[in-house]
Amino acid sequence: MQEITLIRPDDWHLHLRDHDQMKAVVNDTAAQFARAIIMPNLVPPITSCKQALNYRQRILSAIDSSHDFEPLMTLYLTDSMSIDEIKSAAESQYIHAAKLYPAGATTNSDAGVTHIDKIQHVLEAMQKYDLPLLVHGEATADNIDIFDREKVFIDRTLTKIRQQYPELRIVFEHITTSDAVDYVISQNSKTAATITAHHLLINRNDLFKGGMNPHNYCLPVVKRELHRVALLKAASQHPGKFFAGTDSAPHAQNAKESACGCAGIYSAFAAIELYAEAFEQAGDFSNFEIFMSLAGPEFYGLPANKENITLTKQSWTVPDSLTFAEQTLIPFKAGQTISWTLGK
Ligand code: NCD
Ligand code: ZN
Repeated sequence: MQEITLIRPDDWHLHLRDHDQMKAVVNDTAAQFARAIIMPNLVPPITSCKQALNYRQRILSAIDSSHDFEPLMTLYLTDSMSIDEIKSAAESQYIHAAKLYPAGATTNSDAGVTHIDKIQHVLEAMQKYDLPLLVHGEATADNIDIFDREKVFIDRTLTKIRQQYPELRIVFEHITTSDAVDYVISQNSKTAATITAHHLLINRNDLFKGGMNPHNYCLPVVKRELHRVALLKAASQHPGKFFAGTDSAPHAQNAKESACGCAGIYSAFAAIELYAEAFEQAGDFSNFEIFMSLAGPEFYGLPANKENITLTKQSWTVPDSLTFAEQTLIPFKAGQTISWTLGK
């Protein structure tokens, strides 16, 4: 395959940060995608519709006029989220979901939900008003091995939420294991999952190859090769249940290369090309457009995009670094080759 044309995709899981850092990265996404679900884990987090709408305005004002891009906003669930806020979010044309971060699970999750019992009324309201629940699916207790956190979350929490709220639309975000793949396949159309490009392309060896590599560290952490293979199969062979969500999560170089390096991989600069690399490895592009451009809008109840994009088999080298406001950002696969080019 030398050229692929598909409906312009959307990114169903994206971290844009704020202010100058947001300005440094948002046009990378706007150059690729038509829309993106914007994660609310700012400091302080986006917990109200008012904050979400203000953040949306800041994003829109940072986008170059050459791009046509729509940020799809989300709320950050806390123990004190109100039902009224959920109702307003569901009524807003700009807010599309609320995100559950178990407290302590990942970057800026300290204000997250301490126990699922604290938000039962909120989940009930989300089901009633049909506002999708996006979950960071990792159990956080210290005695659970970091590589098992996703499976334990499914067994102890997700199964319970699903039983209690059968009509609630749930996106299991950035899944990383065959357990999550199996769980999502076993559910009806109310459950879907996003998969990142990096979880399709690297396994946990890449954290340690030739020395510790903080730029491959993200949460949920990359897993064994068998899980990567299960994700490739899920993305390419199960049309409709899984869709693209980059989880592109920029952190400055000094915050990554430090004694307590932040979790997050920056992939937005070449997200679509990276997904093409993954599907090429899977050896089957037949469901590529469904995964990239159709399954997400279908789940969220939005129309598919109208324009097309084209990928060409032409390799290029990823820069060693990018600028990130006053700082430096090391992109995913820095200095390595990507074999697909977008829009040529
Ligand atoms: C994300 C971030 O930096 O905001 N980090 C990451 O490793 N993915 C948070 C998240 O999605 O877990
Ligand atoms: Zn994320």
